[in-house]
Amino acid sequence: MPQNITIIQGHPDPGGGRLCHALADAYAEGAARAGHAVRSIDVAQLDFPLLRSRQDFETGEPPPSIREAQDLIRQADHLLICYPLWHGTMPALLKGFIEQVFRPGFALEYAEGKWPVKLLAGRSARIVVTMGMPVLAYRWFFLAHSLKSFERNVLRFSGISPVRESLFGMVDAAGDAKRQKWFARMHKLGVRGR
Ligand SMILES: Cc1cc2nc3c(=O)[nH]c(=O)nc-3n(C[C@H](O)[C@H](O)[C@H](O)COP(=O)(O)O)c2cc1C
Repeated sequence: MPQNITIIQGHPDPGGGRLCHALADAYAEGAARAGHAVRSIDVAQLDFPLLRSRQDFETGEPPPSIREAQDLIRQADHLLICYPLWHGTMPALLKGFIEQVFRPGFALEYAEGKWPVKLLAGRSARIVVTMGMPVLAYRWFFLAHSLKSFERNVLRFSGISPVRESLFGMVDAAGDAKRQKWFARMHKLGVRGR
């Protein structure tokens, strides 16, 4: 069934042209070919400040770029979120974006003495992470802690489920044949809309 897919490109390089962009492009191409509606948010192109207070988080007015991103996420059945692993976690710009976007009233509804209502239920997601180390090292030595925290504390906590993962390791050393295989894999996932 055709889906509304929103791609969140979390690579901080505004010049584009990185592996994260190519993986997202391959996915978008497959998705569009299969009849899914694809929209994109390029975090590196957005103008937004860092969130600095609880008061702003709870009652502040998000800047227009964040409001537009929230609309694109709300309209989506499925999210594709791409980022490179930087110092063991997502780049600071993407973290700043997440803090701005996943506010009360958009991601969760808090009520006194009750478990928060998950406002983004009904949506699924795939997280795509590229990294210099082997994927096995990230999973087994570092326990993929930053990825698990993003999945559980942000996405699942606001109702997004299932959340799937595609991890690409040793990317800086990968030759063209390997990269083409990765693009084919992302294209296939795009066709399936998952
Ligand atoms: C500032 C910075 C920090 C990085 N930290 C890590 C890290 O902690 N672990 C790792 O495996 N790779 C690390 N890398 C390598 C990147 O993950 C890798 O270059 C990137 O995923 C390549 O994808 P791209 O072409 O989309 O940028 C780091 C790279 C940079 C620039």
